[in-house]
Amino acid sequence: MTDNAQNHITILGVETSCDDTCASLARATPIHGLEIKSASDLAKINFKILSNIISSQVKLHKKYGGVFPSLAKREHQKNLPAVISQAIKKSKIKTKKQKESKEDLNRKIEDLKILFGREDDFFKTALKFLKNSARPQIDLLALTIGPGLEPSLWQGINFTRAMAMWWDIPIVPVNHIEGHILANFIDQKDKNNDDELFPAVCLVVSGGHTQLILMEGIGRYKTLGESRDDAAGECLDKTARILGLDYPGGPAIAKLAEELKHQKDELKIKLPRPMMFTKDYDFSFSGLKTATLYSFKKQPADIQRSKNYIRAMAFEIQEAVIDILVYKTLKAARNFQARSIIAGGGVTANQKLKERFQSEIAKLYTQPRFLAPDKIFSTDNASMIAMAAFFNLDKQTDWKEIQANANLRIK
Ligand code: KG4
Ligand code: ZN
Repeated sequence: MTDNAQNHITILGVETSCDDTCASLARATPIHGLEIKSASDLAKINFKILSNIISSQVKLHKKYGGVFPSLAKREHQKNLPAVISQAIKKSKIKTKKQKESKEDLNRKIEDLKILFGREDDFFKTALKFLKNSARPQIDLLALTIGPGLEPSLWQGINFTRAMAMWWDIPIVPVNHIEGHILANFIDQKDKNNDDELFPAVCLVVSGGHTQLILMEGIGRYKTLGESRDDAAGECLDKTARILGLDYPGGPAIAKLAEELKHQKDELKIKLPRPMMFTKDYDFSFSGLKTATLYSFKKQPADIQRSKNYIRAMAFEIQEAVIDILVYKTLKAARNFQARSIIAGGGVTANQKLKERFQSEIAKLYTQPRFLAPDKIFSTDNASMIAMAAFFNLDKQTDWKEIQANANLRIK
């Protein structure tokens, strides 16, 4: 399994669940019988990112104000060979030209044809890539199989299945949500920190998901609650569109809200915080979107176009989302006596959200630890997928059995 005497394992991760085409090379040391309980345990596995390539399709989807699935599919097909080649090259891992008999090569080409079915152009793209690439010295392929957009998921899956077949490498199928959670463990090098991490309350909040998850340890999850309608990121994207801001809405709203902080011109706008005080751990963000739309429509055209009004709206939308997310997460943390609060997903790239978590946690008696990934690992990336595969080595699967599951649950 491991590729040399140092006992480490080298993983190529692939992620295409939404609109980013991502590949990453990572290396880590499996330690038999080690149960991760603290940052010092994480330091022992020495998880190293060798490369992390992300090809964003944001510009392409801008005019739709969101992800357009058939366009995302086409872009993934176009980007995958280059993104993977770049990830391999940048990692500087060894590669080896494969010597094969004509019969073996023909057999593989036949398998590849079956694998791609009617996707003839994508078959040709993959064949060109595989014929021109020397085999990278990797032990494992890590692959997002869900949840996500089905057409997007399948492109990463088929391309990775092709690599697995061609180079004879096992695949570990990964749940995207677990990836967002474990992204927090990528840079944990704190050898001397033995503080218990679990139980943890995880908030995964992105364009497609808003979930509160109780985590008793790596691989032991229970969903406490989730959004009944729009995800928080989706709400930011849609309200930004109402205000005439660019996609993705989260960063656009954050930027304008930040500008307001330095002014005294805050207009008195009050938007609702739906489901904030309900007894469960569920969320609802579609009411906030509708309230934003009505509030905006009520304004005369000159106000709608005024920068001050847009800034004030952006500020209030962001405040509402942060109020709801922080309140419900802290409620879960108190009720489950969490040792840590673990944030993940694109929305947790938001600086204001992270600051609010820090300041509210400081007021708690139990003082759970707060973990949020570096910005580059908050939004979609393949390093988090490699990380999740590393903790699921027993799930190695033959390429023929790998399927997309757009609605995959974490439990
Ligand atoms: O995790 P992610 O990259 O993709 C999904 O799995 O959905 O999350 C994308 C979402 C988008 O809705 C985007 O608006 C939001 O994350 N986002 C942010 C920020 N950066 C990205 N939201 C708030 N503040 C940010 N700085
Ligand atoms: Zn995501």
